[in-house]
Amino acid sequence: MSPALPWFPKKVLVSDPLHAGLGTLLGQSRPDLEIRERGVPDVTEADVAWADVFAGFRPPKQGNWRELPWVHCIGAGVDAWAFRTGLSPDTLLTRTSEDFGPQMGEYCVSRALAVTQRLRHLEAEQRARSWKPKHPEQISGTGALIVGTGTVGAGIARAFQGLGVTVDGLSRSGKPRKPFRVVHAIEEFAAALAGIRWLVLACPLTEETFHLLNRDRLSACGGAYLINVGRGMLMEEDALPEALDRKWLSGAALDVFEREPLPPDSPLWNREDVTISPHISGLTTVPGAAAGFLEVLGDLEAGRESRLRVDLGKGY
Ligand code: OXD
Repeated sequence: MSPALPWFPKKVLVSDPLHAGLGTLLGQSRPDLEIRERGVPDVTEADVAWADVFAGFRPPKQGNWRELPWVHCIGAGVDAWAFRTGLSPDTLLTRTSEDFGPQMGEYCVSRALAVTQRLRHLEAEQRARSWKPKHPEQISGTGALIVGTGTVGAGIARAFQGLGVTVDGLSRSGKPRKPFRVVHAIEEFAAALAGIRWLVLACPLTEETFHLLNRDRLSACGGAYLINVGRGMLMEEDALPEALDRKWLSGAALDVFEREPLPPDSPLWNREDVTISPHISGLTTVPGAAAGFLEVLGDLEAGRESRLRVDLGKGY
């Protein structure tokens, strides 16, 4: 059962390789907590059995974490816990309060500007000591479609809008939402793509969005440039080489993959029209991770429902 409120969890297991220091910061803010901070491979069954709450990005390798009363996810997406994992529906799953939109917005516009400013071509020309002007394109006046209109999608939209790009959104419901000019419902995917230069995937991975960008939809992309900062499983990755060869997509910047790390034999590595990065577009910070955890803890102790609670039925 979800913990009855108010609830005063005391034993906190913190584990994430990128965020050593979170346990220390939590301990400084709340000296009454008992904190165990462990590297991901070092978490033991006994640690998990001991904990009232686990704070981390991904589940530990050991222990009965599916039955924990509370899990606090410190990443931008919660699918490592909520998507096809068998987490008990009675677990309280909460997310961080950190706003990843601005940094993911920077990531996305940098990839789009690299295309319009022809950075790859210029680097090759420079290496060849070649002086052959090829004019940049202007990004201003182009159109973007952002799949996912939550805080991440909104941050990405603002970054594009700052460059004069017209930005539409695509969401489950199609409910209007700022700052998008228009929000389309998922069923309108093909129509929403008309005239779009930048297609950005920034929605959570759920049963509904798994392979949302399948081969069929890829074939309707009309030469758009794809930027995926959501999850690899949002698209049918195996269909991507064909989509690029047939110019359904003019190129792709990918930060996330169906399998991470991207296997060395993936055909994506060698493509001139693909830019790869190792899942770095939205990085958790220690203060941001601590703030979200402490907010939920305060809610539990005060007997309040938390705005950071994940709806396990929806998966986000
Ligand atoms: C994510 C993250 O959720 O890196 O992708 O935080």
